[in-house]
Formats: sequence, structure tokens, C-alpha cells
Amino acid sequence: MRLRGKRGVKELLEQQSQLAVLEPETYKGKWNELFGNDRPIYVELGMGKGQFVSQMSLNYPEVNFIGVDMYDELIARACEKACSLWEEQGVEPRSNLKLVRANIEFLEKMFAEDEIERVYLNFSDPWPKNRHARRRLTHARFIEKYKRALNEKGEIHLKTDSETLFEFSLNSFAQMGLQMRDISLNLHRDGINESHVMTEYEQKFVNKGMNIHRVEVLIGAQALHNYRTSLS
Ligand SMILES: C[S@@+](CC[C@H](N)C(=O)[O-])C[C@H]1O[C@@H](n2cnc3c(N)ncnc32)[C@H](O)[C@@H]1O
Repeated sequence: MRLRGKRGVKELLEQQSQLAVLEPETYKGKWNELFGNDRPIYVELGMGKGQFVSQMSLNYPEVNFIGVDMYDELIARACEKACSLWEEQGVEPRSNLKLVRANIEFLEKMFAEDEIERVYLNFSDPWPKNRHARRRLTHARFIEKYKRALNEKGEIHLKTDSETLFEFSLNSFAQMGLQMRDISLNLHRDGINESHVMTEYEQKFVNKGMNIHRVEVLIGAQALHNYRTSLS
């Protein structure tokens, strides 16, 4: 179905009630019930049209994925994206993917403590002006929200083209005493493995020859312990 105006978006979201979640507060503390299993939950915050999260849900059926964005139209586009991926691959609709309309500002209304295992921040809005620093998704006030929702294996994975946001994020993580891993200033030069999944924005920036910056942040005690053990 082609999206035509607000009515088209509304109709599509109604038809996709298995995939699109418009009232995520209902599932706070109950996401595993909704998925029907106890598998870990990985969340992309600010998924845009959902290319990354849809592809990841296909590649990793043993993980539950949630893509979050705040606009109906993007949720509808992400539903279309997931459906066309399933069709292209000739697979049945996957139940390990939910596309959620929510504002990240209110993350605590959506997830209980320790409910999720990974947060992906892919090409988040950089908010380059200093006076907008509080809006950056790696500002300490947001990291506190992620820390609360993440479990003992919890990690944050961040990719961005923005040097300013990357510098700000590394400082934010360091000031909060968080352990970082695999920092790259030019991900595609350093070599990505075949399991690497690109986002829409990443594809655009890589085509223009821009550098992609990436870092993983270990939040949960178990994640930190495993990392330290791997070093010794
Ligand atoms: C620059 S786009 C990146 C999209 C995608 N992750 C990618 O890499 O192609 C940032 C997305 O974050 C979403 N976003 C920004 N602030 C948000 C918020 N407070 N809550 C939910 N989504 C938000 C925007 O709507 C937009 O779709």
C-alpha cells in the first residue's frame, strides 16, 4: 500500500497493528510478554525509516528488536520497509520486530528497569549549537535513562557522521565513568565485517565519502566483567 497523506498513514498503521505499537506505555515491564519469549531486547532510538532495525531483526532471529521514532509517518514507512524486506527475502513476517511511536524524552514511561539489553544510537540529530546540548541523545540526562532501562549485559552502540556529536558523546561517557570499547573515527576505513548493517543515513554519508565514527559503551556489570576478562 502506498502512503498517501495523513489518511494513508493512519490506515497503514491500523493494518499493521502486529508491527506498529502506538501506545508503548501499555507494555512497560511487559515487552517480553508481547514478544512471547524471554529473548534479549535491542532498541534503536531514532530509527527513521527503519532500514537498520528491520535488517537486524532478520539477521538475528534470536534477539527481539524495537525501533523507536516519534513520527507516525516514519513508523508507517518503517512498516513498509520491514514488509518489503520480508517479501524480497521470501520469508514469513517476523515476530521479533516492533516499530514504536514514542518520544525518547519519556523513555522511562516505556521501559521498566533492566528491561532491555542494548541501545543503538544511529546518526542521532547532532544539535550542533552549544545552547542545544541538552537535546543531544548522549547528554548525561539521556544516558541516565538508558542506564536505568539496560540490564546487566547492557551496552550502548553509537554511530555518527558528526565530529561534534562524537566528541561530545565520548566526553559524556567518560565523565560518567563508563567503559568504552572499539572506538573508531573512520569505521569504513578500519574495516567493517560482513555482518555490518548500514542505516539509511550511513549509506548516504558513505556514498559521499564522509567518515563514520563509532563507539560501544559497556553499561551493565556483566558486560563490563566480560570485557575485562577478555583483556586479561
Ligand atoms: C538523523 S535521523 C537518523 C535515522 C536512522 N537512525 C538512520 O541512521 O538512518 C534521526 C531520527 O531520530 C528521530 N528522533 C529525534 N529525536 C527523537 C525523539 N526525541 N524521540 C524519538 N525519535 C526522535 C527523528 O525523527 C529521526 O527519524
